[in-house]
Amino acid sequence: MQKAFDIGLDSLLADKSAAEAVFVTGAPHRGTFYLETFGCQMNEHDSEKVAGVLLSRGYRQVDSVEAASFVLYNTCSIREKAAQKVFSRLGEFRDMPGEPKKIGVLGCVAQQEGEKIFHRSPWVSLVCGSASYSKLPELLAQLEAGEKRVTGLDTDTDETFETELTRRDNPWRAYLTIIEGCDKACSYCVVPYTRGPERSRSSDSVLRELRQLAELGYTEVQFLGQTVNSYADPSPRKMKFSELLQAAAEMPGMRRVRFTTSHPRDFSPDIVEAIEGDTRICNHVHLPVQSGSSRVLRAMQRTYSREEYLEKIAMVRNAKRPIAVTTDIIVGFPGETEKEFEETLSLLEEVKYEGVFSFKYSPRPNTPAQSMPDAIPEEEKSRRLAILLKLQRKIQTEANEKSVGKMFELHVEGKSRKENQWSGHTSCHRVVNFSSPQPNLLGSYVRVRVSGATPNCLIGDHAP
Ligand code: 5AD
Ligand code: SF4
Repeated sequence: MQKAFDIGLDSLLADKSAAEAVFVTGAPHRGTFYLETFGCQMNEHDSEKVAGVLLSRGYRQVDSVEAASFVLYNTCSIREKAAQKVFSRLGEFRDMPGEPKKIGVLGCVAQQEGEKIFHRSPWVSLVCGSASYSKLPELLAQLEAGEKRVTGLDTDTDETFETELTRRDNPWRAYLTIIEGCDKACSYCVVPYTRGPERSRSSDSVLRELRQLAELGYTEVQFLGQTVNSYADPSPRKMKFSELLQAAAEMPGMRRVRFTTSHPRDFSPDIVEAIEGDTRICNHVHLPVQSGSSRVLRAMQRTYSREEYLEKIAMVRNAKRPIAVTTDIIVGFPGETEKEFEETLSLLEEVKYEGVFSFKYSPRPNTPAQSMPDAIPEEEKSRRLAILLKLQRKIQTEANEKSVGKMFELHVEGKSRKENQWSGHTSCHRVVNFSSPQPNLLGSYVRVRVSGATPNCLIGDHAP
């Protein structure tokens, strides 16, 4: 079998149809697969690895359900809407004409609903949660041998999912999972149930994969984990998370190292020191706060108060190098009073986040918050969300306007259909759309002077 990363850089740099170009020598031809992913970056990256497993078994990736003999959905259940989407997709196969297809459900809905999926959608033949992905080759072998229904639903595991081949979709930024699962117990969250307990990869294995990525030509990596900074090296080397960031930054060829998502409780000064000390470690942290009210934070079991969170923010804001901070907020948690919601607004005013992802609370199965009293009506949640979005828009507009005239280094990731128009990210993860007459900028690093701003992006010109 072809080894990991033997795919030439050219195929990685092409668009999604690169999958078609991947040729795995020695594997039998087993048909075609279509894989659709819902949810977070962890899911996106899991799918890249699942695709790698399928490709190395001799399946070929196609980009439509119609063209596929095997259809897989990698699902998300963080909020109810995401979970519902999958069931509507599965429903489409009820009366689908033509050859029956093999259907697989992966990810968080698979873990949460388990074998119930077979009852609801009897045409499904594979149900597998992320904690069982390392068993995928075995499960696929069972399906290929003619078994009608196979499952991978254990979460009681200390294994992480490592593949020989990863079919990377993003040619500019490589994702690399360093820790899977979650040991926190936020009262609203399904993740500890669907992704299982925390498991960290050994630092050697992380750095080996990183070296392969650098050799392939990647210059930017993003470490992933539900609580990435809770990383605990299981090997005798016992590298701290901040040391792993430093080692990654020192990898020849790497120019940018990112990480997401950080948990405030484990966000320690050495992480800030690492960012201060090495410009290859990106000056952006995603530090979800969820609420600005200490009472609500306690009910959410977040393990910190508003004041403790603000101490972490002060540590970041006092760094020698400016560090951008983004966050996640949940509005309308059960029992959240108007005053408590206003505490969240005042926190936004105080921190002045560079970006906020905000959500209406959605009750999830098996979570303690699901049975909490004083649910907030849907319209009230929508009202609070709209107020919060408006405030954050104002904060971002003001901050972005202050960036006019400044210079940023961008990693160019997009080319607009409009001539001479490009886009990229700054180290602090702002999107900048800019003009340049130069050809072939994709993947390169350029200096751009900001000439204008909108709430969500900056506008600039390539500086000579
Ligand atoms: N309802 C609404 N938002 C949620 N999140 C997690 N669980 C829920 C829920 N039940 C949000 C949190 C988390 C982000 C990934 O999704 O803000 O940080
Ligand atoms: Fe969910 Fe909390 Fe774990 Fe994040 S830290 S995945 S919100 S339980």
